[in-house]
Amino acid sequence: MSFMRTSAFVGAAFAVSLMATSALTTVAHAEPTVEVLHYWTSGGEAKAAAELKSEFEAAGGKWVDSPVAGGGGDAQATVLRSRVLAGDPPSAVQIKGPNIADWAEQGALADLNSVADAEGWDKLLPPQIQKIVKYDGKYVAVPVNIHRVDWIWANPEVLKKAGVDSVPNTWDGLFAAADKIKAAGFIPFAHGGQDWQDATVLETIILGVGGADFFNKALGDLDEASLKSDTMKKAFTYFRKFQGYVDDGASGRDWNLATAMVMNGKAGMQIMGDWAKGEFFAAGKKAGTDFLCVPTPSEHGYILNSDSIAMFKVKGDDKVEGQKVLAKLIMGEKFQEIFNLYKGSIPARIGVPRDKFDSCAIKSMDDLDTASKGGTLVGSVAHEILQAGAVRGAFLDVATEFFNSSMSADDAVAKLAEEMENAKD
Ligand code: GAL
Repeated sequence: MSFMRTSAFVGAAFAVSLMATSALTTVAHAEPTVEVLHYWTSGGEAKAAAELKSEFEAAGGKWVDSPVAGGGGDAQATVLRSRVLAGDPPSAVQIKGPNIADWAEQGALADLNSVADAEGWDKLLPPQIQKIVKYDGKYVAVPVNIHRVDWIWANPEVLKKAGVDSVPNTWDGLFAAADKIKAAGFIPFAHGGQDWQDATVLETIILGVGGADFFNKALGDLDEASLKSDTMKKAFTYFRKFQGYVDDGASGRDWNLATAMVMNGKAGMQIMGDWAKGEFFAAGKKAGTDFLCVPTPSEHGYILNSDSIAMFKVKGDDKVEGQKVLAKLIMGEKFQEIFNLYKGSIPARIGVPRDKFDSCAIKSMDDLDTASKGGTLVGSVAHEILQAGAVRGAFLDVATEFFNSSMSADDAVAKLAEEMENAKD
């Protein structure tokens, strides 16, 4: 069942369940309560989620934690759909990008405008984030962060032993450095062979090889000529080169175990979003000395990912009150600072003081500003910002099939164009 058909059926089931039980809404005023469905289960992520939990409890709330392991969130999305289908949605859910609009379109999300108006969110959120968390002019989710996808995480000790002075800023230079790291007896790129991780690497290469306009035309507009172009073929050719620098144990490896390989000096580099920095932070590692963060090669590109918490329509004054308390808390300056220090991301809220953030976060903030002004900011497909549902699924499928086969670049671009065309609504 395609994502859209599922959600239409889900929407109907949801409406029925809500009508059937709304009469049962109790008037007793218990403590504000939230059940939070999320997939922040790695070391760094869990610390960040625990921060949100302790702040909510400090505000007098009761937090019911519902973590679903599985990086990239596909396992969590399956749990969410079954919970809504059963007429028992969690009150607060980590979802992103077009998925927020899809759930809002089904009438599944609560209107947060009372909190947003009282707290002045319109002045506190950049336009590209407002676009994600608003539906029909109303706030239906609250953004917790801005993650950058197009990063290289490197171990300076390994680079030094391999005679690599710095992480190169071209793909050819990167592969030449990988050759040196391999010759020195280290794994050049730590990687987890999972579809969303393969797609994460591929989208950074597409941005680097084609630029932001090409990225948006090919993966946003699904322009057939761009998807089948020599530029896209070149991207797959580089993706094949990347695959040659990954160890045989990569298949199925979780992303944070790949990060640990860089941290422990088994591997030289990892291409991954800055939730990987949360792992270094959790291990007490320092940016610039214990690890390096360098954007993947591109012309001032920036691949944006942003996590939000969407509040599903639920019954019970305690749960509705809990949603309002949580939404206000998440957009608070203090929370936006502490959560993002742990998470490896930067605040979604404008104007949070920079002084506690490290050089990687500062670079992300500065590069985001440059990319926003220069038109080189793009939304991630691998992480459900530019695309979600079936179209994103097609991108992940082709990326991982190519990575795990000897498929040619010519065949890959033909398959990508065909699968994305078929996935369109
Ligand atoms: C991303 C999500 C991040 C992190 C990462 C690894 O999609 O936005 O917060 O969880 O997956 O699971």
